[in-house]
Amino acid sequence: MGGTQIERAGDYQGLAQARLDPLVWRYLQDGDQGGNEERLKQIVLLPRPLVDCRAGHTRLSLLGQTLSHPLLLAPMAYQQLFHEHGEIATAMAASAQDAVMVISSLAGQPIEDIVRVVEEEGGPAPWFQLYWQQGRARTLELLKRAEQAGCHAIVFTVDAPIKLATMQLPAHVRAVNLEPPLPLPLSPDAGTRGASLVFQGWMAQAPTWDDLRWLREQTSLPLLLKGVLHAGDAELAISSGVDGLIVSNHGGRVLGGAVHSLDALSAVSAHVAGRVPVLFDSGVRDGRDAYVALAKGATAVLLGRPLMWGLAASGAMGVAHVVRLLRDELEMTMALTGCVNLDEVRSGRGLA
Ligand code: FNR
Repeated sequence: MGGTQIERAGDYQGLAQARLDPLVWRYLQDGDQGGNEERLKQIVLLPRPLVDCRAGHTRLSLLGQTLSHPLLLAPMAYQQLFHEHGEIATAMAASAQDAVMVISSLAGQPIEDIVRVVEEEGGPAPWFQLYWQQGRARTLELLKRAEQAGCHAIVFTVDAPIKLATMQLPAHVRAVNLEPPLPLPLSPDAGTRGASLVFQGWMAQAPTWDDLRWLREQTSLPLLLKGVLHAGDAELAISSGVDGLIVSNHGGRVLGGAVHSLDALSAVSAHVAGRVPVLFDSGVRDGRDAYVALAKGATAVLLGRPLMWGLAASGAMGVAHVVRLLRDELEMTMALTGCVNLDEVRSGRGLA
């Protein structure tokens, strides 16, 4: 396990930094993580002793899958930046920990290979994260490829039409599932006199609510929208037919000074009122954070950067250990607040 002193997922952070090229480290850490993290830590919990927890468990049923715990692996691009085995290592770790991996559109290894590893290792079927491919035809092609590979659900990420956190990729890392690559910078109009690189460039190739309704028609797989922070947007998404929402500010990587993820979760989950599952990410660093998100209405929680700290430090073992640590901490927090299942956590009985 690369070291014996690792007691928390955060312990992998320093190990990862020591191993990674400073530019890769900067790419991974880019964005405002602190605000999301602090907000989660501010929530006060209430110990509830003497509850018989011997039948306790963290099982849930989510969009047709029965899962042994509510921790998923967030989609993260170009994982070979962090370890030579990249997404394959993450897939092995996810399977070993009985966790759903969400495969990024920007994965560095073929979707089919990643899914096959999960099948061989007996993990829950992975989901696929879809980025809009500048238009409907190419987006549909990618969607169908993920379906055919055996992905269980589609996560349509819409919060990053403009990508600030980018880096020059080394030669061995590329988005192999998006070949041939799309031209950048975007539309031919951009850069011509009077045209805006943002409005006529990036945004001319970004999806709209119409495209979401179109996408809904293209697949019978569960469809989740990732990057929803506003109750009104959640409502529009539900009326567009999505099966689930992911409240996320992309780990603070897109819009500076954006609402903290937990504040958005409270607003969105109150508004949605159980009509569809509301998943959560951005700032979860330990099992207590995951507990807080569940208590504030999340159905399940996606882990982000801590997985890549584990991957950089110890490959598949590191990723698996991070998931395991968070799961153990979640269970400890449940036991200490007298919650024997996730419904009890979600009832808020452990909130002060
Ligand atoms: C991401 N995220 C992301 N999201 C997505 O939908 N597709 C992607 O390809 C990526 N790639 C990616 C790369 C890196 C290096 C980071 C840090 C993040 C966002 C990710 O899924 C998740 O929303 C955040 O990582 C959650 O925040 P924390 O927990 O990392 O702070």
